[in-house]
Amino acid sequence: MSERIVTGDLNQNDREQETQLRPQNFSEFIGQKKVVDNIDLMVKSAIVRKTAMDHVLLSGPPGLGKTSLAMLIAKSLGSELHLVSGPAIEKKGDLAAVLTNLKPRDVLFIDEIHRLHITVEEILYSAMEDFRLDILIGQGASARTMQIDLAAFTLIGATTRSGLLSNPLRDRFMAHLNFDYYEPDMIAIIVLNNAKKMGIELSADAKMQIAKRSRGTPRIANRILRRVRDFALVGGSNKVDQKEVAAALNLLDIDDLGLDSMDRKILNVMKSYYQGGPVGIDALSATLGEDKQTIEEVYEPYLLKQGLILRTPRGRVLSEHAISHLS
Ligand SMILES: Nc1ncnc2c1ncn2[C@@H]1O[C@H](COP(=O)(O)OP(=O)(O)OP(=O)(O)O)[C@@H](O)[C@H]1O
Ligand SMILES: [Mg+2]
Repeated sequence: MSERIVTGDLNQNDREQETQLRPQNFSEFIGQKKVVDNIDLMVKSAIVRKTAMDHVLLSGPPGLGKTSLAMLIAKSLGSELHLVSGPAIEKKGDLAAVLTNLKPRDVLFIDEIHRLHITVEEILYSAMEDFRLDILIGQGASARTMQIDLAAFTLIGATTRSGLLSNPLRDRFMAHLNFDYYEPDMIAIIVLNNAKKMGIELSADAKMQIAKRSRGTPRIANRILRRVRDFALVGGSNKVDQKEVAAALNLLDIDDLGLDSMDRKILNVMKSYYQGGPVGIDALSATLGEDKQTIEEVYEPYLLKQGLILRTPRGRVLSEHAISHLS
């Protein structure tokens, strides 16, 4: 199976590359001005108050920079960052161990926090609010709660689906910051910076071409850039022009709108099986043989954002724009 390039989802190659390409300070963190302005204020305030920064929830599609931002926050606070992933925490005790290990003003980053198990999630409530763990000891009539004080810490939660967060958890975050897809001119700056880090020289056309085809997602821009670099290297040069970009995009099956074969498949299925809709997400998921959650989290947001799919009370509908794009 070929690597799916256009999802923002992380794969192993990305993981290695991303360490190299991650913004090392706020000046390298491009765009998302509103998010960055909020964070800047919160960080400065925490430093002045000499306390832990307020808890913050970062939401938005994969690959837009949530983890990168969390790393920068910890760095500018001068705090240690502890990274955990929601679904990987299976038992209360696992999270309790992480929490009791935190030192004052440390930052705990919980990725995919909407996938925390509810019983695990519950111990976060008092931890976030009062920096305290309430633990039930024993069973039945002899059961007692024991309280353990925690260091004052900052929780950064990241989620691709803030709508799936429970209310008690959501309410305990002082700030909710939402990442949006980047405009091409912002991606272009990221592409240029990362090309430099990779030691390749991009023409202006090549840079814009990559920026426009990246679905507004820096992680996808990085992936395209990597392929483009491969083409350039194989061609015996570190200079990249539109020719290499076109070859890479062609190989990766990315079209003018930045859509890949799966995106087009979704649109095509809606057109030919459902006469353009309306079609419900369950029917669409069954016809495509693709998990409902993946369609909703990974593919659909961009198709909606581009106005290719419209949401109506009766289901998803293809837009005129999508129909003309397909033909
Ligand atoms: N604002 C930005 N400025 C510069 N580079 C960025 C920015 N956002 C993301 N990137 C680039 O994209 C890569 C992926 O970003 P990151 O891993 O932070 O995304 P994410 O939102 O955490 O994704 P996921 O939801 O899959 O965890 C980074 O390694 C970095 O190279
Ligand atoms: Mg991440």
